[in-house]
Amino acid sequence: MRFFAVICIIKMHKNAFPHDKLDREPFSRPVIDNDDLKPARPGADSGSGLNRREFIRRSGMALAGAAAVSTFVGPRRAYAASAVELTFASAKFYGKQTIAEVVKAFNDSQSKIHVTYKELPPPSSSTEVHQSLVQQLARRNGDPDVFTLDIIWIAEFAAAKWALPLDQYFKDNTGEYFPGMVQACTWQNKLVALPWFVDSGMLYYRKDLGISAPSTWTDLIASAKEAIGSGKVKFGFLWQAKQAEVLVCDLVSFIGSNGGAILQADGKTVSIADAPAVQAVQLMYDLINKEQITPADVLSWDEEPSRRPFTGGEAAFLRNWSYVWKIAQSEAESKVVDEVAVVPLPHFPDKKSAACLGGYQYGINASSKKRDAAVEFVRWMSSPETQLRFATQLGLCPTRAAVFEQPEIGTEQPFMQQLKEVFLGAIPRPVTPKYPQVTLALQSAVSTALTTGKVEESLKSAKQKIDTIVKA
Ligand code: GLC
Repeated sequence: MRFFAVICIIKMHKNAFPHDKLDREPFSRPVIDNDDLKPARPGADSGSGLNRREFIRRSGMALAGAAAVSTFVGPRRAYAASAVELTFASAKFYGKQTIAEVVKAFNDSQSKIHVTYKELPPPSSSTEVHQSLVQQLARRNGDPDVFTLDIIWIAEFAAAKWALPLDQYFKDNTGEYFPGMVQACTWQNKLVALPWFVDSGMLYYRKDLGISAPSTWTDLIASAKEAIGSGKVKFGFLWQAKQAEVLVCDLVSFIGSNGGAILQADGKTVSIADAPAVQAVQLMYDLINKEQITPADVLSWDEEPSRRPFTGGEAAFLRNWSYVWKIAQSEAESKVVDEVAVVPLPHFPDKKSAACLGGYQYGINASSKKRDAAVEFVRWMSSPETQLRFATQLGLCPTRAAVFEQPEIGTEQPFMQQLKEVFLGAIPRPVTPKYPQVTLALQSAVSTALTTGKVEESLKSAKQKIDTIVKA
């Protein structure tokens, strides 16, 4: 009864102060008082050495804090009138929950900040998400205040000064994240994004077909042919060759698995036309045309079109990201529940498996006039509790070492802990502020190579273009 009364009072109060009214109110003072927000931003200052007991203790404090906020009607009413309105733009992710639900949880957890979520296309439409963000950030009008960015845009957004340097807010927290993620969020010695989740390409395969995890591409080809020959599956190996960002992700892992690279670490030496890369792209072509274990349909497939036949029981192997695991285990969406294993991708003889590094981060708009509130929101979004929620509900792999080790991850997403080295050892795509131009050159050249078979010629032309781009 008391709870009901509290809800009513809060609702009445919210109606009295609609957010669109607050939207128009000028930001006149730094509204955030950190002490007031402490109970509502659980774990914001958790350390990387967080053990299980400490993690639970802090989560418990957080829940108690949240409960205290929702029953403590007086201050809540007073705060809401001056709530800071933030806009948050992010690619669309979904699983058992959506980003909108997580944002709502933040809004419900406190009353000083209200975040409006602007949903962008899903991350497989990376180029479109990028375009939309760039158009908004280039206006330098502070909208959106907070955004999420694909790992490949960090250098570009920092060099354009669209992303606010975050050292002064988070320098005491960087030790809580995997060092590689912090490095990926750093540009010219400044932290310009805060890690959200790490993604990595991996190999899914059907245990029930009697095939074992392949270590080399030759093993995979043999098993795929056997599986097709048995009549139990239509396709051997599915991956993504649509002329889109994901093609570059697949490319990185094929080339890396032959010891090659697209661009050397100096950021200037282009090695896309060197022998390891040419052999790798030749293999991509051969999988479709010579070995015929991959359907030519992959030339127009990104993540989801390639995932569906696999979870539909029609394929032996699939290269994809971590989000597929949960879907494969869902009775409603999958015909292969309990029949799927995940392992590192295969490699060339005497070489090592390679995965492409993916994932998204949080950025704060350098033109936002609501920095303190934006920092509080990002802190909450990247907190241990929220990362755990993203992992268990949306299948997004944590970038915080302590969260990664939590038993809930072992129960809900067991492959994450098993493939820790794959996540942490994944290879980045070329790190340069010119990445948007580099990726378009790669997508076009590899697409041509895969449709015409003119592998060496296409890669030589890509090398020329990328040479000009990175040296300009
Ligand atoms: C995944 C990765 C992202 C990549 C995209 C390509 O979402 O996390 O880094 O750019 O796929 O489709």
